Amino acid sequence: MSRFDEEAKDWDTPESQERARNIAKAICSHVPLSNEMTAFEYGCGTGQLSFELRNKIGPITLADSSTGMLEVLRDKIRSRSVDDMEPISLDLTKDPIPNKQFDLVYTMMTLHHIPDTQLILNQFYELLNPGGYLFVADLDKEDGSFHGQDVDDVHKGFDRKELASLTEKLGFTNIDFSTAYKMEREINDHGESKLFPIFLMVAQKS
Ligand SMILES: C[S@@+](CC[C@H](N)C(=O)[O-])C[C@H]1O[C@@H](n2cnc3c(N)ncnc32)[C@H](O)[C@@H]1O
Repeated sequence: MSRFDEEAKDWDTPESQERARNIAKAICSHVPLSNEMTAFEYGCGTGQLSFELRNKIGPITLADSSTGMLEVLRDKIRSRSVDDMEPISLDLTKDPIPNKQFDLVYTMMTLHHIPDTQLILNQFYELLNPGGYLFVADLDKEDGSFHGQDVDDVHKGFDRKELASLTEKLGFTNIDFSTAYKMEREINDHGESKLFPIFLMVAQKS
């Protein structure tokens, strides 16, 4: 059982919902969305971001490698009688890439969990239709306090310039960064907390 399988049932909190709402707002402010657009969310967790966006876009495929997260997502889809969201179990670092392309690909707080950033950005490129948009919401470079000392298999956020340069190298254009949200998180047992900025990178497949 993965860490995310264990966390899935308690994932949805007022704080995580607020984060999703703000990232969705930032996405909407960057690109005119329409019901004609197909979408793919990677590392969807319980689907909070897609639930925020679903009334503004067309059908959404939601991918995650955690069985626990996908179970919670499927329950939410069932209980709300949603028919335009399709959850799939997928790890793009190991599994074959779906034989389908989308107008929008988005991912929130997942990039820092993928060891090979270039590989995953390239998979996103392949998943996009020409002219389609990629949105990545993730942590700015930080000192490791977001996950704490016990977690050493994640990126400690990203340097915007380095990420932009890698993204451009893979063929994306019109790359833009903004600060979409600042997330408050407790960083030690003394109740000390810190604000972690979350960027939104938008990039277009030419
Ligand atoms: C920090 S959580 C973010 C979940 C959701 N996007 C959110 O912001 O609420 C990271 C998510 O990425 C998923 N994940 C991590 N590595 C993955 C991989 N290689 N392939 C697919 N999903 C992955 C985890 O299962 C988890 O649901």
